[in-house]
Amino acid sequence: MTCMDTKTRKYQRIIEQIKDLLMANGDPIAQMATINAVLYHKMPDFFWVGFYLLKKGRLIVGPYQGPLACQELEKNKGVCWAAINRQETIIVPDVNKFPGHIACNENSKSEIVIPLKNTNNEVIGAFDVDSKLYNYFDKTDAKELAKILAMLKIR
Ligand code: SME
Repeated sequence: MTCMDTKTRKYQRIIEQIKDLLMANGDPIAQMATINAVLYHKMPDFFWVGFYLLKKGRLIVGPYQGPLACQELEKNKGVCWAAINRQETIIVPDVNKFPGHIACNENSKSEIVIPLKNTNNEVIGAFDVDSKLYNYFDKTDAKELAKILAMLKIR
């Protein structure tokens, strides 16, 4: 018997569902929207799920689910820009303690941001999930959400 934890099992089911859904349409925006919808509705502690996309050096909101978000994130400020500039996933257990964190909604308490890459391995934006709970995200989220993003084949 394997000792996979509950969160990982839940992600496994979600990943299977997303895999099937993404096969129906190769359009990146449709695929991003689908990923958000599935995660937002299946993960009760995900308060905001979405993409920010780099456009001519600016970071502009893309498809998302959840409360109204900032339409543009000030350059080189906050978690999304940090993840993009460092080219690494950032887990923030308490957003109040992250210097420069951009609070689009005061109910957001913790978050994870994963750089979004195209098929050439270039960073083209960020995938951001927020929770109303402090300390919500861990290595499992980082690993499983990265698997989901890897299904997006954006040229
Ligand atoms: N947390 C982000 C801002 C976007 S919202 O969380 C939707 C940041 O500081 O980059």
